[in-house]
Amino acid sequence: MKIVTTLSELRAARAGLPEPVGFVPTMGYLHAGHLSLARRAKEECASVVASIFVNPTQFGSGEDLSKYPRDLARDLSLLESAVVDLVWTPTPEVMYPPTFQTWVTVEELTKGLEGAARPGHFRGVTTVVAKLFNAVQPHKAYFGQKDAQQAAVICQMTKDLDFPIEIVVCPTVREADGLAMSSRNAYLNPDECMAATVLFRALSVAKSAYDKGERGAEILRRIMTETITAEPLAKLQYVSCADYDTLQELETVAGKALLSMAVFIGKTRLIDNFVIGETVSLRE
Ligand code: PAJ
Repeated sequence: MKIVTTLSELRAARAGLPEPVGFVPTMGYLHAGHLSLARRAKEECASVVASIFVNPTQFGSGEDLSKYPRDLARDLSLLESAVVDLVWTPTPEVMYPPTFQTWVTVEELTKGLEGAARPGHFRGVTTVVAKLFNAVQPHKAYFGQKDAQQAAVICQMTKDLDFPIEIVVCPTVREADGLAMSSRNAYLNPDECMAATVLFRALSVAKSAYDKGERGAEILRRIMTETITAEPLAKLQYVSCADYDTLQELETVAGKALLSMAVFIGKTRLIDNFVIGETVSLRE
């Protein structure tokens, strides 16, 4: 596994890789969710490139940029075990030299949910991912359903900017108790870890109501809210039952929909989601 930092090193190493090339962008502090993306890429591509870059432009002021967990040595050994061929670890100076002034913005899909709760967040994400795509020039890029709106926004950007890249969205990897894996779970103490399962529990209760026939989006949102507010260590930021494609809030669930939420457990902000109402083709 080769490890590079500068853009010229990355380009030289990329030029020698067998194609097709799969790409897994990350902010490091890797867990089984990240590794599932790398393994999927390895199954589908001749070579796999991963990046590790804690992207400052997607953190708001007052967010956790300076204390975001980092462990490069551990990350590199995990990526090696997932048979990644090339790891790019750019520095902030490589990605954002002092003269930097060009931004990529996806307009509509970033207005609600995480975009509303974290102003400027997606501008940072789409800008860095566009730069990573331009540098790595992958054939396929792998993202997690855990960050459902991010995956939707990246798909839209890829389409709108004509990147010749197939975006592959992979299932959320969870702990045995349902907690979605996240680098930010490292912030949780043991009591908070237990409380953090409330996101999965709230989503599960709403999904079982949907499975039993409930189609009222406000009722599904209320079911999730009630479960979250019953957990003393949890503070709800938002719950949503939105159209899967537009991410607009629904009144009635008719097709595919996204149940999602952001919840503070103590000082740690966690997000999670379930997809409901997938239409099953009669031919499958
Ligand atoms: P990061 O949070 O490190 O996540 C990197 C990728 O791993 C994202 O596509 C994310 O959705 C996926 N992922 C995280 N937790 C997962 C889980 N439990 N199961 C499956 N996939 C999971 O997302 C980012 O970094 C950044 O915004 C980035 C895209 C790298 C741009 O800076």
